[in-house]
Amino acid sequence: MSAMIKIAIAALVAGTVQAVPYAQNAGPASGDRASMTTAAMASSTSSSMEEYTTPPSTTSGSTGSETTGFPVFGTSTANPDDLKQLAKDLQSEVTQVDRLQRLLSVDNIGKDPLTDPDQVHDVLAFDFKNAPAGGDGGRILVANEDNFPLLVGEGIAGAVAFLEPCGMNSPHTHPRATEFLTVVEGELVTGFVLENNFFKDAAAKIDALAFPFNTTLKQFEATIFPQGSIHFQFNPTCDRAIFSAALNSADPGTSQIAQNFFTLDDQIVNITLGAANSINPSDVDMFRANLPPNLVRAVDSCKATCGM
Ligand SMILES: *[C@@H]1O[C@H](CO)[C@@H](O)[C@H](O)[C@H]1NC(C)=O
Ligand SMILES: *[C@@H]1O[C@H](CO)[C@@H](O)[C@H](O)[C@H]1NC(C)=O
Repeated sequence: MSAMIKIAIAALVAGTVQAVPYAQNAGPASGDRASMTTAAMASSTSSSMEEYTTPPSTTSGSTGSETTGFPVFGTSTANPDDLKQLAKDLQSEVTQVDRLQRLLSVDNIGKDPLTDPDQVHDVLAFDFKNAPAGGDGGRILVANEDNFPLLVGEGIAGAVAFLEPCGMNSPHTHPRATEFLTVVEGELVTGFVLENNFFKDAAAKIDALAFPFNTTLKQFEATIFPQGSIHFQFNPTCDRAIFSAALNSADPGTSQIAQNFFTLDDQIVNITLGAANSINPSDVDMFRANLPPNLVRAVDSCKATCGM
């Protein structure tokens, strides 16, 4: 992990990551990654970056790929506290049938089934168009037990992300789930680092504890990120990208690597980064203050190609 952090720091120092003072997490982007993505950048149409809420019909006219564009985004009208309370109430049921019956019944008492189509839809449907902006890199929303009571006890969660041109969902890990990701629109560079000693010898040659993997996924290609792995998704093109992901826990959790690392005590951060790197106390604070949000526009070469 320290190699990852070093890369992140190198990128931050080199200014290859757009630093936004926002407390969510960090985006690494090393020089070699940037060059790799330059090669991957076949399509370069103009992008309309500020239009998070552009309806499909008015998205940038891109060449080639079938873009459906981003939807009109909204905000959920459901009260988060009510959803949480409902999830708690459902947990108290012994069987899964009881839980579902309660959820799909009039007044949630498990007796008479809902028949009103709108009420049934409210229970059964989760709307990813409520994805909040996660930074200038795009939007992501995870449906889990907390915000979608239908998931309580089902052992599964889901996410949809809308990535702007050059947008990246920066390195993070899901402590309780493996992720199965499918590219719905556009293309993505994805990568992961597994635990210590994964390809030990190859890792040693690059001064790492584990050997990292990445690949570019085209539309409708899918991959997994093993449980606990540090992984990222990056849109290397000037067109928007959308992915959908399933996670095999209803409570997968997400931990942003750089942001959480820099939360640790100065001395701990310092020692971990290596005495020879000799970080100034003010630098550590600077890193903390400038870590970008989880969805960030990344990689200079991509931004340059796309005219950002
Ligand atoms: C992808 O993997 C190759 C080979 O290990 C590496 O050189 C490159 O930097 C990686 N790119 C990204 C974006 O992780
Ligand atoms: C980190 O260690 C170096 C070398 O021991 C020292 O000069 C520096 O002030 C330390 N930084 C922090 C944040 O403790």
